Amino acid sequence: MSFRDDGAAALEWAARYLEHVGEYPVLAQVQPGDVLARLPASPPEHGEPFADVLRDLDEILLPGITHWQSPRFFAYFAVSASEPGILAELLAATLNSVAFLWRTSPASTELETLTLDWTAQLLGLPEGWHGHIEDTASTSTIAALAAAREANGGTVVVCSEHAHSSVDKAAKLLGLEVRKIPADEEFRLRVNELDLADAAAVVATVGTTSTTAVDPVPAIAEACADAGVWLHVDAAYAGSAWVCPELRWSQAGVERADSLVVNAHKWLFTPMDCSLLWSRRPEDLRRAFSLVPEYLRTSDEVDSLSDYGPALGRRFRSLKLWSVLRCYGREGLQSRIREAVRLAELFERWVRDEPGWEVAAPRHFSLVCFRRDGSDDENERIVERVNRSGELFLSHTRLNGRYVLRLAIGNERTREDDVRRAWEALRQA
Ligand SMILES: Cc1ncc(COP(=O)(O)O)c(C=O)c1O
Repeated sequence: MSFRDDGAAALEWAARYLEHVGEYPVLAQVQPGDVLARLPASPPEHGEPFADVLRDLDEILLPGITHWQSPRFFAYFAVSASEPGILAELLAATLNSVAFLWRTSPASTELETLTLDWTAQLLGLPEGWHGHIEDTASTSTIAALAAAREANGGTVVVCSEHAHSSVDKAAKLLGLEVRKIPADEEFRLRVNELDLADAAAVVATVGTTSTTAVDPVPAIAEACADAGVWLHVDAAYAGSAWVCPELRWSQAGVERADSLVVNAHKWLFTPMDCSLLWSRRPEDLRRAFSLVPEYLRTSDEVDSLSDYGPALGRRFRSLKLWSVLRCYGREGLQSRIREAVRLAELFERWVRDEPGWEVAAPRHFSLVCFRRDGSDDENERIVERVNRSGELFLSHTRLNGRYVLRLAIGNERTREDDVRRAWEALRQA
């Protein structure tokens, strides 16, 4: 078979998968080791047809896939790899650019800059921020905190008790201490308890992982400015919501941040991985990361984006984001985000109106935290039962010591009927 025929078969596989993804059990119903046991322990001596890869994908791997593209995937933060993004991934792999220097792929570097500028405009961010793409928010936060350490020599990272664990991991890697500030009754950092002694940076979160709480960024920014401390805003999930003006209340104060991370692979319909890092102080990122060995020295008087983060080799990630932005436009992004928020509002109303159930945290975007009015064990059993049924997949958190269910809407294929089916399954469980 030729590349063209195999390619057509792969594309047909992808199209069929997306048409039928709602029919699979959302959470993989396999036991640890099941997939491995069905695969040969040694690699083939001679090449095999690509058709065999597709066959094994269907027969062996698919049962071991948890379907993040399912319209009833409601766990963690639900995501979507949109069709324009999927196709652009194919093209990026075809080009296989390794853009560590501008000259190693000028279009990749320049499109990345342009796409970050476009996204900044769509999200209503201040003009002139420097943007580049990292793989994940974890890496973006490492880059931001390394720049902060470089900028002011502080030794402590300050964040709320609800900040994502990637902050702890970044601090661990950089040899920084973490100081956790308690949260208030709505799970936001208590700014009156902010202690900036020896701080390199504060990480404020817009849209925490547990509940999508929004830290009081204006007051935190004020304190950081007074103390000369770097402000990094983690809006990995909720930042995409700023494409809708009615959700920009959550952007207050972000214009004063030194750096900001938004994951396009979370709620901007871009396939994993694509984490957008902007900074008002790119020269500090450069000071933290620029390192030019002889073999990378050139006479090109242009920026290389590998000078702004830990990795040298850089994939052509902007192609998929550009493709999504072009094919959806502002309007298409807004309508998808608004629909997710509408469905979350609807689900929240059903929970509120149902005796024996309660909403467990304020809902700001498309995540509903809720629980059955009963013991933690009872709630945990509900989650286990619905996840095992394959009908939907949802995850949990712990708030004020209590086990809480989380229903996160974010897949672009989720319809009202999917949310209704989820609610029925939960009530029955
Ligand atoms: C608020 C927040 N920050 C950071 C992360 C880490 O993201 P990544 O998996 O891209 O490192 C997450 C993941 O869900 C998150 O919710």
